[in-house]
Amino acid sequence: MRAVVLVGGFGTRLRPLTNSVPKPMLPVGHVPIIERLVANLGRYGVTEVTFALGFKPEPFVAAFPDGHCAGVALRYAVEPEPLDTAGAIRFAAEAAGIDDTFVVANGDVLTDLDVSALVDFHRAHDAEATIHLIGVPDPSAFGVVALDDAGRVERFVEKPAPGTAPSNLINAGTYVLEPSVLARIAAGQKVSIERVTFPAVAADGGLYAMATDDYWLDTGRPELYLQANLDLLAGLRRHDTCAPVHPAARVAPDAVLVQAVVGEGTQVGAGARVERSVLLPGAVVGDRAVVTDSVVMGRVGAGAEVRASVLGADGVVAPGEHVGGERRPDPDGT
Ligand code: GTP
Repeated sequence: MRAVVLVGGFGTRLRPLTNSVPKPMLPVGHVPIIERLVANLGRYGVTEVTFALGFKPEPFVAAFPDGHCAGVALRYAVEPEPLDTAGAIRFAAEAAGIDDTFVVANGDVLTDLDVSALVDFHRAHDAEATIHLIGVPDPSAFGVVALDDAGRVERFVEKPAPGTAPSNLINAGTYVLEPSVLARIAAGQKVSIERVTFPAVAADGGLYAMATDDYWLDTGRPELYLQANLDLLAGLRRHDTCAPVHPAARVAPDAVLVQAVVGEGTQVGAGARVERSVLLPGAVVGDRAVVTDSVVMGRVGAGAEVRASVLGADGVVAPGEHVGGERRPDPDGT
């Protein structure tokens, strides 16, 4: 089974982290999001993955130089310009020569889904396209489906107004598609699979969906990216876990770490405290500094306090400064 993984988005909601690292390359438990995602695809029978990229492939090629990711053979399809989700799927599938049933995954979703079960469901229903669904309390920020008893999608509504969603089952970002779906997508144009292609397949009666209660998380927002790290550390994933401290981190013996993921090459000074937070490669936490509920790639000065904040690679908190609910550098700043 082959797969296309969408990794060409700009990751604007994760700025400033994504100023220096593409979203799929941000580590969750010391391993890039994309590598954990591909590992799960490979676990359930995917043997080749094509990364659908909207721009520079260099960080990916550098991370996976031997043409494999998590043991799965890798190809790259680089769009001349971002083609949106469906346009990117068509472009990548053609570049890879895909002419049989294939899997698609959003590159920022972490899930324990048994992908082979989704493929089996797709085949059993003779579907043209099948979507993995997850139940959430508030579906208004997602693509929401209404299903009949056979699992056929009656309606697919992208981001319904609050209170108007037809169910609480949302598009969880993993699909099984027949090659005929590609013919529905205008070549070389920006087309959204969520807004254009899925509603069209549903209208023709070929769109099915399978709900599961597997671990699932969309890493697209900072608090969810942080959550993905803490969940892994807490042992909430079926197949994976992670060590709290990377062997190449330098942590002072009297520093206190509580539910913290401390990445490669980071430094944590004497008497510092890091709680419910992620320190990414490059992060420096000064002596006696306190970091809580935050993601840090930059520098926290001695004695500073950082709460519920995101520091990108160029983010600096001065010694003794107190910071809460900030992003540095400010992604909206000039
Ligand atoms: P935000 O900018 O923060 O919304 O993130 P994003 O750019 O990743 O957008 P979004 O999360 O909505 O995208 C869903 C998935 O599709 C992600 O895996 C993106 O990488 C991917 N994606 C979105 N647009 C494109 C595109 O034009 N080309 C490619 N190749 N992938 C895309």
